[in-house]
Amino acid sequence: MTKTQSEAQKVLVAGATGTVGREVVAELLARGARVRALTRNPAKADFPAEVEVVRGDLGDPASLAPALEGVEAVHLIVFGGEEYAPLTTGPELLAQAAKAGVRRVTVLHGGGPSPLEDVVRSNELGLEWTVLMPVEFMSNALFWADDIKANGRIEEPFVDRVSSMVHEGDIGAVAAVALLSRDGSHHGKEHVITGPAALTLRDKVRILGAARGAEIGLVELTEEQAVERMRAQYMPQETIDFMLEMYGNTPVEGRTVAPTVPDVTGRPARTFEEWAAEHAGAFRA
Ligand SMILES: NC(=O)c1ccc[n+]([C@@H]2O[C@H](COP(=O)([O-])OP(=O)(O)OC[C@H]3O[C@@H](n4cnc5c(N)ncnc54)[C@H](OP(=O)(O)O)[C@@H]3O)[C@@H](O)[C@H]2O)c1
Repeated sequence: MTKTQSEAQKVLVAGATGTVGREVVAELLARGARVRALTRNPAKADFPAEVEVVRGDLGDPASLAPALEGVEAVHLIVFGGEEYAPLTTGPELLAQAAKAGVRRVTVLHGGGPSPLEDVVRSNELGLEWTVLMPVEFMSNALFWADDIKANGRIEEPFVDRVSSMVHEGDIGAVAAVALLSRDGSHHGKEHVITGPAALTLRDKVRILGAARGAEIGLVELTEEQAVERMRAQYMPQETIDFMLEMYGNTPVEGRTVAPTVPDVTGRPARTFEEWAAEHAGAFRA
């Protein structure tokens, strides 16, 4: 992809204020694309000046008309609103995107059934599509920041489980390449996106400790203790079951290193050591 090729392209990014979306925006900008960021609340959005911020709600496809105007490619999420509820308006908003002249989409897979993803995969609308299937995000480690700052330790079950977790920037990079690809080479692809190593929880804690300059303790919880804690946090049973399945019985993709990042982006996948160095401040009291 040359700069001139990508400069002509305008890309709409949904979920642009989120963990993955903001990385998609950054990677598109780095490749010279013109970026339009979708948000329900432009006042809250904080982007570089060259990003065009537009208001729109994926749950209300009519609100997306201005956002879709003149756009060649769209990055989509499969949820809308609270608790990552699957977006029920997916088919409608995709039809609207196709009608507005959108040529290709990337979809951030959410792990469950999605009416939006079903339509995309069916090829009904003639859109080129790429489904992004990242494994566990490295940024999930930020959930531990308060405990680490307050107590210098975390309490978790399944400490020997292995995860090939991925840097969010690499999800953004794979998305950007697919969104800007005009030769059809990413059409119909499901990209499993992982980091460069499969690490245990013990490895992660050691790496985070080294990055923040102070060792972090790891207390192993039994599965029963972990469930009790999640219940005390009012986590819905469905989410508890999902967490136990993901962590207690991580699917093979989630614990295997895939070559997608280097293959698609031409760069090595970013390591957890790099992620930890970038976020070390979040783990220091
Ligand atoms: N965490 C993991 O390890 C992991 C692994 C694999 C896959 N995933 C999947 O990744 C997804 C979460 O991505 P993320 O962490 O980047 O999300 P996030 O940080 O929670 O961000 C959510 C984004 O969605 C936007 N949004 C929500 N409802 C919307 C609506 N109705 N209309 C327009 N925008 C809306 C929000 O925008 P505004 O508030 O600005 O409107 C925000 O930018 C989920 O599908 C999850 O299943 C997560």
